[in-house]
Amino acid sequence: MEEKMKVMGVVGSGQMGSGIAQLGVMDGLDVWLVDTDPDALVRATKSISSSIQKFVSKGQLSQAMGTDAPRRLRCTSNLKDLHSADIIVEAIVESEDVKKKLFSELDKITKASAILASNTSSISITRLASATSRPCQVIGMHFMNPPPLMKLVEVIRGADTSDETFRATKALAERFGKTVVCSQDYAGFIVNRILMPMINEAFFTLYTGVATKEDIDAGMKLGTNQPMGPLQLADFIGLDVCLSIMKVLHTGLGDSKYAPCPLLVQYVDAGRLGKKRGIGVFDYRRVPESVKP
Ligand code: NAI
Repeated sequence: MEEKMKVMGVVGSGQMGSGIAQLGVMDGLDVWLVDTDPDALVRATKSISSSIQKFVSKGQLSQAMGTDAPRRLRCTSNLKDLHSADIIVEAIVESEDVKKKLFSELDKITKASAILASNTSSISITRLASATSRPCQVIGMHFMNPPPLMKLVEVIRGADTSDETFRATKALAERFGKTVVCSQDYAGFIVNRILMPMINEAFFTLYTGVATKEDIDAGMKLGTNQPMGPLQLADFIGLDVCLSIMKVLHTGLGDSKYAPCPLLVQYVDAGRLGKKRGIGVFDYRRVPESVKP
């Protein structure tokens, strides 16, 4: 199936969808990028073009490919434009109901052989597949943020995902230069199952007054050789995203050890969602030089 893949559809043109679409066009695929919000498509087109230019200026992509790749991208708000896609990667809002509705629509309008993949961080692939008439062609294709730079793709097999679908999806991720790990379909898959409890524990460490946020992050960064501490990483991911994944782990695995830390809940209630809002655990709002004392 994979060797015939020429056209990729990506639904959702936010930070993940735009990065996934970029990988597709840089690899020579024709990519349809779909979003209900036309402004999001404009932002995605700009960020894809500028990121491709960075790959060219670093010598990681030829000048010819740098010129050709953006031309392979087509943006639309009409889902029906995906009728010719060999694979569709969904990267819309992390809501099971909204994703299920989309999968049901994709099932009706895409060609019978198309693979329907989800970039979900935590929602069950088996349940998304149940909204379609082709559960053997539904799979998780979980890119890391930002997709053009991060080396990993976690591929998640739902209860009915076929070997053929798995092989074709893995081969596509490898074509994009990624290393693939395979997870069965249980809450959090591999990466978030391990990462999110660590982040949650960092919040408990702060909440119970064991240490300051700076010392928690410095301790984990230097003590376990990670590029950034868990609290800063949570700010980069988004505290709302971290909280929603902890809730999925708590419900899905039924163990109180996954209960979200009250401090994480409080930050989200307060709108301190992390870097995207300018403030989370840390404050990212820059004081202009001119008003500094
Ligand atoms: P985002 O909020 O940046 O982008 C989502 C986009 O989907 C928005 O542009 C929105 O207009 C669009 N959208 C929403 N509903 C739609 C619909 N029914 N049809 C078409 N477009 C629709 O979100 P982000 O961060 O890109 O996340 C997308 C998915 O990727 C989520 O499932 C998330 O859990 C997952 N993910 C996120 C990571 C992250 O670090 N942010 C990492 C790995 C996975």
